[in-house]
Amino acid sequence: MFFESHAHYDDLKFDQDRDILLASLKDEKITKVINVAANLTSSLRSLELAKKYDFVYATVGVHPHDVGAMMENDLETLIGLAAYDKVVAIGEIGLDYYYENSPKEVQKLWFREQINIAKDIGLPIIVHSRDAAKETYDIIKDSKAYEVGGIIHCFSGSKEMAQKYVDLGFYIGIGGVVTYNNAKTLHEVVRAIPLENILIETDSPYLSPVPNRGKRNDSRNLKYVVSAIANIKEISEEQVIKTTYENGLKLFTVHG
Ligand code: NI
Repeated sequence: MFFESHAHYDDLKFDQDRDILLASLKDEKITKVINVAANLTSSLRSLELAKKYDFVYATVGVHPHDVGAMMENDLETLIGLAAYDKVVAIGEIGLDYYYENSPKEVQKLWFREQINIAKDIGLPIIVHSRDAAKETYDIIKDSKAYEVGGIIHCFSGSKEMAQKYVDLGFYIGIGGVVTYNNAKTLHEVVRAIPLENILIETDSPYLSPVPNRGKRNDSRNLKYVVSAIANIKEISEEQVIKTTYENGLKLFTVHG
């Protein structure tokens, strides 16, 4: 059984066949899916999907791309949504200095505020970090986000940085990029960190793995991520599937 730790099935790209696709996932042994929100609208949509499908769980949160429009009372809205028992994390939250759709200081402010919510409620965080490795780590450490833990999703940093997160008890999210031949740094990360700190993800509909690169992604492609991790770590695919599933159960409250 596969634990999909990061997908966006509320995305418009699934409007034509969302229900058919989701209903088919169990046949593919994908039995847990964390549907990750990126703003208030997708937080609501994520929660709707979690209500509709027993194996889908929701997160609520505002992505760094969207924090520019956040208001103080949005935090209250997030807290209200997070009270539902199928909301299992706050995310995705973090810093994106590559696109910098919102000013850096604004991103930092709302990253911290949303970490505080997670700590108050006792939910883990799902972190997006791009071209802001040091700043992201510093905020996580200073704010004691390790008290609730979480995932550094679609990890793109060095193996040294990955190890620092592992030392804080964080999980490293590994997705389709690991199947790219030229992703040498990520391959080093996967080789260096324990399987006990890895979660598998697709980030659907984005970042399709080889051999489906360029197409719309969905959780059925997790098997390619698994295969790449198994090759790099020289272990069986079964072990990757089993351990990452157990890791998911440890981090998220997904029973029932
Ligand atoms: Ni994502």
